Amino acid sequence: MIIQKEQAKEILIKGGNVIIPTETVYGLAASIAHPEAVARIYSLKKRPQENPLIIHAATVDQILELVTHVPESFFLLADRFWPGPLTLILEANKDIHPLVTAGLPTVGVRIPNHKATLSLIKETGPLAAPSANLSGRPSSTKHWHLEKDFGTDFPILDGDPPVCGLESTILGWINESWQILRYGFLAKESIEEVLGISLVDSLLNICPGKRFKHYSPDAILVCTSDSIVEAEAIIGYENRCYASPLPLYSLGRDDDPASIAHNLFATFRQIDQDGLAKVWIDIDLPQQGLYNTILERIARSMNSSE
Ligand code: TXA
Ligand code: MG
Repeated sequence: MIIQKEQAKEILIKGGNVIIPTETVYGLAASIAHPEAVARIYSLKKRPQENPLIIHAATVDQILELVTHVPESFFLLADRFWPGPLTLILEANKDIHPLVTAGLPTVGVRIPNHKATLSLIKETGPLAAPSANLSGRPSSTKHWHLEKDFGTDFPILDGDPPVCGLESTILGWINESWQILRYGFLAKESIEEVLGISLVDSLLNICPGKRFKHYSPDAILVCTSDSIVEAEAIIGYENRCYASPLPLYSLGRDDDPASIAHNLFATFRQIDQDGLAKVWIDIDLPQQGLYNTILERIARSMNSSE
């Protein structure tokens, strides 16, 4: 159910939940001032309690109230990439309820690049919001994805649908340096350019969410060349020729990673909607920039045994 800002604000400040659009994917929000609303996020999503939430703020000043210490380079990143698809994990202010941080001493924060949602957060204050999908399922990028997971009556703030199609990149400030904890829409190379250093992928499994099953359609995805014979459809690229009569679900052109990112989860949801059981996915993509995030999401969606 689509609602306007005034109604969304009222629900949130009274301790309810609202789905908010962001530039990456939809988020399932609660005010951080209402622990009971934050708790409801876990039950609505069937999310494990040990998987913390990201806080969405409207300004850097709001963020500085959520954390205890920031390095100098925080301001470089904030200036260059916020509002935008970057989440920073920093030392948490002790006032933040442990339901938000899952009891960790750190907190994830970001300023989303979305007009309607920013305007809402300016009035409600910071909102905790994980991606708006049932735990383990692909993130939501269209209204029907949300209705499928949360029903048709769930309030959704009116606004432009997500353009990125997959989540923010997560950087953590760990042992006095930035480490990548989750690949996301913002390419690692773009961050390296701003910081003037090479980023290492964190060897520590610090993002609790990475331990859980993720992004998976119900259909089984296969990718080896011989497995195409068992498949009912192909997920591929519109400028490639596939020597197969199977229907093609196109992610866009193979030289347009933003389009592939935008379409990836929506296509996973569409193949389930169409009742397919096994689908072959073309993973022959360059290993650089946003393609690396796309390949990581595909790999995790195939590995549903976790
Ligand atoms: O683009 C996005 O980031 C979207 C939109 C809605 O903002 N949000 C999103 O949230 O993807 P979620 O909850 O689906 O993924 C957040 C990830 C989880 O893997 C979680 O474990 C990790 O961030 N995370 C949150 N707080 C953390 C912390 N304090 N330390 C380490 N990892 C953290
Ligand atoms: Mg998620």
